[in-house]
Amino acid sequence: MASIVATVLLIQCLLSILLTTTLAAPINITRETFRTCRPGNWFGNPADCCPPKVIKGPIVDFCPQYDATKPLRVRKALQCLSGHELKTYTRKLEKGYALMRALPDSDPRSLKRQNEIHCAYGTGSFIQDGSTNLTIDVHINWHFLPWHRMFVYFHEKILQKLLGDPEFSLHFWNFDNSVTATPRHGSRGCYKAGHFVPPMYNDPSKATFEANRSFMTFEPNRPVDIALDLSQLSPLLGPPTFPNNTVEEQTRLNREIMHRSMITLANTTSFFGKAYRVGDARILIPAAGAGTIELWPHNTLHAYIGGWMMQPTTAPIDPLFYPFHANMERLWSVWRKLGYGNDDPTDPDWLDATFLFWDENAVMRRVKVRDFVDLNALGYTFEEVNDASWIFFDNSTSPGAP
Ligand code: C2O
Repeated sequence: MASIVATVLLIQCLLSILLTTTLAAPINITRETFRTCRPGNWFGNPADCCPPKVIKGPIVDFCPQYDATKPLRVRKALQCLSGHELKTYTRKLEKGYALMRALPDSDPRSLKRQNEIHCAYGTGSFIQDGSTNLTIDVHINWHFLPWHRMFVYFHEKILQKLLGDPEFSLHFWNFDNSVTATPRHGSRGCYKAGHFVPPMYNDPSKATFEANRSFMTFEPNRPVDIALDLSQLSPLLGPPTFPNNTVEEQTRLNREIMHRSMITLANTTSFFGKAYRVGDARILIPAAGAGTIELWPHNTLHAYIGGWMMQPTTAPIDPLFYPFHANMERLWSVWRKLGYGNDDPTDPDWLDATFLFWDENAVMRRVKVRDFVDLNALGYTFEEVNDASWIFFDNSTSPGAP
């Protein structure tokens, strides 16, 4: 009797392995995904942000075209721009956002529609094809880094198009750099701290400004706080209260957090976050699925900036979202360069995941994760700055991770 039960259990188990291995597949967004979009939710708050259910026109595969004769565009650190370059850049940025804000809501390139698509992808509004209840999320799992790189990529393309300048780059907010250092002998790049909201995004007369942010972000010399205890980050509790740390304390804490998220805890699995494929349920608790830098500094900074940035339903309304996320993906490339055997996942369910985005011509593009891991193929790179200002942090002074 016992052996019959054991055999039945073994067969059941083998069957379920067979079933899950054949069913598991990369997340794949299609026309059908848009057609079946329905209101989602975020932490229980309803979110009604489906894009139009019918995708007009063709869906065109996106293939990065690498032109080796062309120099790579360089995304630079905002705090390091100066003189003429700073002036020109601020003027372009201002013009780009003024034009983007002027687009009608019917245009998928408008700021409102870009926010809408981020919201749909981030609230379980999209359902996995062929399912009735399994939804899609691009947060709290391994799609967080590549999906947001794609989102920022198309945002940058739209700005280029509106400005008529294909060389325009969306520079990054180097919030992870809390130290102003003297460059070491032979090193290149800018060594200025970047942990303040970049001034060009804090000027009320500019289209890059957003008033709906926490009061702390308007204090020009206040370093951001990325070290918040995650248990405080529940939208049910309202905006968290940030302690009034001295600049020295804050700087030390920020470096410690960066060191932990980029090095101590950051092997490939924990850096990217949990696997998420067809057949998986949406992960709702950040600490249960998010990669290290998604939790800190990403989630903590969203909370620190506050206002629209507090929630994925509204965050991309604030133009600060984009240089912030440009730095998030820069940290991904910094992580790869650190050594320690750091490398991207090789799982085909990650590499072959497919998403849809409207491009700069309002054409729907089908985009694969595997096409967004190599920046050179995408034609841009990040300026070398004090890339790992948190690397020499001495753990012995650590009071213990929050
Ligand atoms: Cu989709 Cu910073 O969030």
